[in-house]
Amino acid sequence: MSAGDRGGERAGHRLPIPLTRFVGREKELATLTGQLRDPAARLISVTGPGGVGKTRLVTQAALSLEPEFSGRIAIIRLDDITDPRDVLPTIARAIGADDGQRGPREALARFLGDDRWLLVLDNIEHLLPAASDVAGLLQHAAGTTVLVTSRARLQVAGEHVFPLAPLPVPPADRPMPIDLDRFAATRLFVDRAIAADPWFSAKDAEAAIAAICRRLDGLPLAIELAAARVAIMPPAALLEQLDAGSSALSVLRGGPHDAPDRLQSVEAAIAWSYDLLRPIERLFFRRMSVFVGGFTLSWAAAMIRGHNGGEAYPIDAGVNPRLH
Ligand SMILES: Nc1ncnc2c1ncn2[C@@H]1O[C@H](COP(=O)(O)OP(=O)(O)OP(=O)(O)O)[C@@H](O)[C@H]1O
Ligand SMILES: [Mg+2]
Repeated sequence: MSAGDRGGERAGHRLPIPLTRFVGREKELATLTGQLRDPAARLISVTGPGGVGKTRLVTQAALSLEPEFSGRIAIIRLDDITDPRDVLPTIARAIGADDGQRGPREALARFLGDDRWLLVLDNIEHLLPAASDVAGLLQHAAGTTVLVTSRARLQVAGEHVFPLAPLPVPPADRPMPIDLDRFAATRLFVDRAIAADPWFSAKDAEAAIAAICRRLDGLPLAIELAAARVAIMPPAALLEQLDAGSSALSVLRGGPHDAPDRLQSVEAAIAWSYDLLRPIERLFFRRMSVFVGGFTLSWAAAMIRGHNGGEAYPIDAGVNPRLH
């Protein structure tokens, strides 16, 4: 039996195909698939804030590489796991490497051998201590590449970080009429609005749609949640609600019931990251919320010094990578 025949995940079933249209990300997809083809990049982490589209991008990359890896690709969700020690056993079970005798690391190393494999570990940010187990596994599986999604980078040797930015939005000074098709954020809005209401027309609402996408910083999760609202209110009214500040988060909820809780609302997406912070980081996070339009590193450093007894806090090592 060859490695290609083993493992329930690949044999017969293919990777799950998303039910919604994928928008934009041409450059990111080309760069990421290029990295995944490069045998020198064995551990790649796609990082970015909740709802920015990490899972979606890696899923598209995995789908496009499926033939090249002869089906030896698995996407393994880790969001339900709470103990980092369960990461390797979960991978082993998912790809059928668990032989009931060896420990997970040895069983995985034997199963993967030198074959070309792509293991996608989705959502590892709450299990960062497991990153060294994963890196250790790679030392015993010469043909395997691991692609993770995480709100924070792993900070282990050999990691190639792929920071994912939100979708491009039309600039505020764009002269009318705005071509919504030219920007991935507005294209996503229109696509999901039509899914919510087949009679939806963007005509005469271009400026409002562009402003909504700017207001939501091009974040796909927020855009999808907002676009689903057009069935009950036109884009101009939606923009008004978003601009009303306190009611903005109440508009951005009501995601699909089959999505994880974390993706049911923007509030839940933020809470997932907030809960991963250490107490001192949570304090800083709350303090930073006074900077409504964003902040520079030096403002953050000044604010932190002011609330940390004059002591500097290692922003880069601590707060910054964990605050997505
Ligand atoms: N380029 C895109 N085209 C179409 N839909 C997208 C795109 N990017 C993201 N989405 C959609 O936006 C939503 C959020 O994206 P996704 O689940 O990939 O975020 P995430 O970065 O993985 O978040 P989390 O950190 O919570 O796991 C999903 O419904 C996803 O399908
Ligand atoms: Mg995700």
